[in-house]
Amino acid sequence: MKIEIGADFPQYFKPSYPEEFELFHHFEVTAGIPAVLFAVTTWKENGQPNVCFHAWSSFHGDKAAFFAVIGNLYQHTHTYKNIQRDKCFGINFLPISYYDKLVDTIHHNDLEKDEFEVGGFTLCDGKAVHAPMIEEAFVSLECTLKDIFDLSGAGITAMIIGQVQHISVEKEYAQGYEKRYGKDGFMMLVPAPQDLVTGMPNQSAIATVNIEKYD
Ligand SMILES: Cc1cc2nc3c(=O)[nH]c(=O)nc-3n(C[C@H](O)[C@H](O)[C@H](O)COP(=O)(O)O)c2cc1C
Repeated sequence: MKIEIGADFPQYFKPSYPEEFELFHHFEVTAGIPAVLFAVTTWKENGQPNVCFHAWSSFHGDKAAFFAVIGNLYQHTHTYKNIQRDKCFGINFLPISYYDKLVDTIHHNDLEKDEFEVGGFTLCDGKAVHAPMIEEAFVSLECTLKDIFDLSGAGITAMIIGQVQHISVEKEYAQGYEKRYGKDGFMMLVPAPQDLVTGMPNQSAIATVNIEKYD
């Protein structure tokens, strides 16, 4: 038996905080699809470095080019404005041990704030693009802006397509699986899976990758 959820908001879904379903579509917590977590780094208009903790994205390409597709960036963020202005950005993958520091950059988010200082991150200049990069990241992608789409057309979020121009990988992570896919590796967001029977909310979860087999 399947539980069927349509495009109309299921009235029995309870939010975990009052504005949850103003911010997130009910399909997000219906499917609860995990996504990798990372930090988008840009320069603010006043020259301060900006850190935006993010997920909801994918990374792919073909022989000709490789892309970072930030699926769902809020248009009210500094990051959105910075990317529109500078036409480039950094993507920085950090292990779960940096979770609290990344959350600090959400709570100290003023224009005047140096968000690298807030998170205790070391800044290094991008090698291929004009973006501040996080030295502590084990993998980082330097991207130029390829395109922006407002997928829903509601003026709330935007899909940002970045073309990857350069990748830096920490040497300890350059061989094998252990470092990149374990407690020191990619950090994942499990978006608050709703109880589809009772409609009660659940918390989001933060996960790491556990390899089960090789192909
Ligand atoms: C796990 C996670 C939790 C987040 N929590 C919040 C939040 O509580 N409030 C918020 O405005 N943005 C939250 N965000 C979204 C962005 O991190 C946040 O809007 C960001 O600080 C915007 O930065 P900027 O204005 O400097 O670009 C969260 C993102 C992730 C990945």
